[in-house]
Amino acid sequence: MSLDLHTAMMGLHDDLAARFFVHQRALLDRDYATAAAELQRYRSALFAHAADEERLVLPRYEQLGGAPDAPVRLFLGEHENLRRFVDEFVQRTAALCERPDDRVLLELLDRQATFKNLVLHHDLRERNVLYPFLAARLSAAEQGKLLAARKWSSGG
Ligand SMILES: [Fe+2]
Ligand SMILES: [Fe+2]
Repeated sequence: MSLDLHTAMMGLHDDLAARFFVHQRALLDRDYATAAAELQRYRSALFAHAADEERLVLPRYEQLGGAPDAPVRLFLGEHENLRRFVDEFVQRTAALCERPDDRVLLELLDRQATFKNLVLHHDLRERNVLYPFLAARLSAAEQGKLLAARKWSSGG
């Protein structure tokens, strides 16, 4: 059975959240080498997912007119913001690997709380606006084609 676009993409959001949790759990353990490695896995998956949306999903959404209160530039701006945060976390985690410091760790966790809030808003915008909009307008065949063209589609 093939998944519809909405279900499949929201499944990837769950997968991303699970990866970020593994990174944060390593931070809580002050296991900074593992935290850095898990953050890289998260970064690759998040960037690939956003790239798939920018290459495949958002152009189609724009062609179809999009929802008036959620223009494409809003999604693009959020993606850019998320990428900037993750790159900042890479730097901060690398600093912790070199020199463990609980103040730096707490600053990082505070920044990550802000990031998780952004992720939550972005998830809701896609869950409640972007993918329902497309689900109402794209045939099952076209949804399947978009899914097949993704570069990142698995929890691996
Ligand atoms: Fe997404
Ligand atoms: Fe997105």
